[in-house]
Amino acid sequence: MTDKKEIRKIGVLGCGLMGSGIAQVAASNGYEVVVMEINEEVLNKGLGRITKNLDRMVSKGRLSDAGKDEIMGRLSGTRQLADLAGSDMVIEAVVENLDIKQDIWRKLDQLCPSNTIFASNTSSLKISLQAEATSRGDRFVGLHFFNPVPMMKLVEVIRTDETSDETHAAAMDFSRALGKDPITCVDSTGFVVNRLLTPYLLDAVRALERGIASVEDIDKAMRLGCGHPMGPLALMDFIGLDTVLYISNIMLEEFGEPSCAPPKLLSEMVSQGKLGKKSGQGFYSY
Ligand code: CAA
Repeated sequence: MTDKKEIRKIGVLGCGLMGSGIAQVAASNGYEVVVMEINEEVLNKGLGRITKNLDRMVSKGRLSDAGKDEIMGRLSGTRQLADLAGSDMVIEAVVENLDIKQDIWRKLDQLCPSNTIFASNTSSLKISLQAEATSRGDRFVGLHFFNPVPMMKLVEVIRTDETSDETHAAAMDFSRALGKDPITCVDSTGFVVNRLLTPYLLDAVRALERGIASVEDIDKAMRLGCGHPMGPLALMDFIGLDTVLYISNIMLEEFGEPSCAPPKLLSEMVSQGKLGKKSGQGFYSY
């Protein structure tokens, strides 16, 4: 990368749970943020979620009303991809579909200056497959955040064989500027967290299927026995059962290991629309 520039303007693609979280954290840390979402309802819901989170901080005395207004003043929503053209870095958090991601990157590659860094928040798709759709493999990096983004300190920074040292350093610096504590990881399916977390979550479902203990007791075991903030079944409800199923299938395809094979109960729940918290029903009712 020859023409390095300071990162001040962030474009965020997608205003779902992850996109809105990333947009909130970036705007809260002084960045100008434009968040693009094609679906108006999702956009409004995501912006509403940010307002609600900031309101909660105001009510707890952690943020002033003026501070909240400043953050909201740095944040805007759009339905036009072209509005991301002025970004120094674009972070995508759209649906986990490679064709859709590649299509968006192909268009943005034309719209953005050559020194704009592209980053993907994918939890499971290889970063290099997305970078292939652009002419800026050296300025393409993975930035994997965790849910809830405002609370979780980790960002996995994923480098492909092509990611330049400068882009990697910029991604690490940016993560730290958001108050996060990043790690570096190679471009391997599941990166670090999902590679370890997914077999563990699937094992909890297998334990439930085999009648080892109740939903409540499996979760209690890991909370009280291992100090986890949430038990595995509650965590799956929180992440979304469809997302866990999706990630496990990708890992199964890649590694072929039985530990990654989704248990029957998980597939059944997803096909019945029991997706966890977002659908009102998962291992628990909401
Ligand atoms: N958005 C923003 N803030 C939230 C929040 C949300 N959805 N949920 C909770 N919080 C905040 C609360 O406001 C509260 O803030 P303060 O401390 O400032 O008051 C704080 O989190 C604690 O909340 P609670 O007391 O209500 O609940 P808790 O102590 O149980 O914490 C939690 C909630 C942070 C979610 C905690 O349970 C936790 O860490 N759970 C594990 C989450 C996890 O493992 N996430 C990773 C999932 S994997 C992933 O994301 C990647 C992937 O690819 C699948």
